[in-house]
Amino acid sequence: MDAPHDLPPLIGQSPAFLEVMELTSRAAPLERPVLVIGERGTGKELIAQRLHFLSGRWDKPLVKVNCAALPETLLETELFGHEAGAFTGAARRRAGRFERADGGSLFMDEIANASPAAQEKILRIVEYGELERVGSSATLHVDVRVIAATNVDLPAEAEAGAFRHDLLDRLSFEVITVPPLRARREDIPVLADHFGRAMARELGWPAFPGFSERAMADLLGYPWPGNVREIKNVAERAVYRWADEETSIDAIPFDPFASPFRPAAGTPSGAAAPAKAAPAPASLDLRTELGRTERRLLEDALGAARFNQRVAARRLGLSYDQLRNRLRKHGLLERR
Ligand SMILES: Nc1ncnc2c1ncn2[C@@H]1O[C@H](COP(=O)(O)OP(=O)(O)OP(=O)(O)O)[C@@H](O)[C@H]1O
Ligand SMILES: [Mg+2]
Repeated sequence: MDAPHDLPPLIGQSPAFLEVMELTSRAAPLERPVLVIGERGTGKELIAQRLHFLSGRWDKPLVKVNCAALPETLLETELFGHEAGAFTGAARRRAGRFERADGGSLFMDEIANASPAAQEKILRIVEYGELERVGSSATLHVDVRVIAATNVDLPAEAEAGAFRHDLLDRLSFEVITVPPLRARREDIPVLADHFGRAMARELGWPAFPGFSERAMADLLGYPWPGNVREIKNVAERAVYRWADEETSIDAIPFDPFASPFRPAAGTPSGAAAPAKAAPAPASLDLRTELGRTERRLLEDALGAARFNQRVAARRLGLSYDQLRNRLRKHGLLERR
């Protein structure tokens, strides 16, 4: 029983990651709910897909619902469906996600955001497979395996009265906690390599030149608050911005917003500068300021390109000759 080919592979080789994979494979075939916990971008959704496709339900629907994306009442009609005339605008009867997942699995993302009323109904489905559509008193029977995910501490939520203890007990038959990337550093090189290679292929490069030692040290030293989603972006961006398929990638643009022209936090767009501005720079002469900024950008780009002027020019969106002219202007040309 193979997972569909379009499923992205789960990459990793750290002991912590392999343990998660092992637990996932063992829990998958069980007809029990599973709770997947982890920070944003750690791969919870991929784990949920793996749980479904390695289960006996793999050829039945895997339906997804994000409990944080909908307001309370809409979430209930989404989950449980409604009868015609159940509320204004409900012209026709509509099946909910539980009904659509019948025989398969329902991935309930951000489960902590389900309202108390929804939690109560979810509990009843998990325990007895019973539900009523909104606006109906007829009981329907469904056979759905619930896979829930969250990035909050659900036991603490339950202690605080924000999440039902009984539902938590039922959902937590097995709990898979995905460690953040900073807690499994061995995965950083393989993930960066995997995503970098894929980007090189997408760009039509004949081969992937890899990351330099220095770039890899930068990758390893970064805390990755956005976890795997972030390293995917960073690795792809590094390849694409490097734009030189022959030399190993030596610059990691972690922050795509980094720019001397980035607006200051809290500055309303289009509004006049606040009355109490930061202390005025020594010079307010526009040309002097732009000259200074240009010089710094040139120096940064040259440094990141290890003084390879063709690479630096490409990174700056300049032709080789344009770059040479500007370097000359700033007296940077003969420095190495
Ligand atoms: N181990 C992994 N190997 C390869 N790709 C991964 C891995 N883990 C996550 N990804 C990729 O990282 C991205 C984020 O993964 P996913 O959406 O599963 O995270 P999540 O934990 O559900 O995040 P969120 O909490 O923000 O919803 C996706 O593009 C996914 O394909
Ligand atoms: Mg997710």
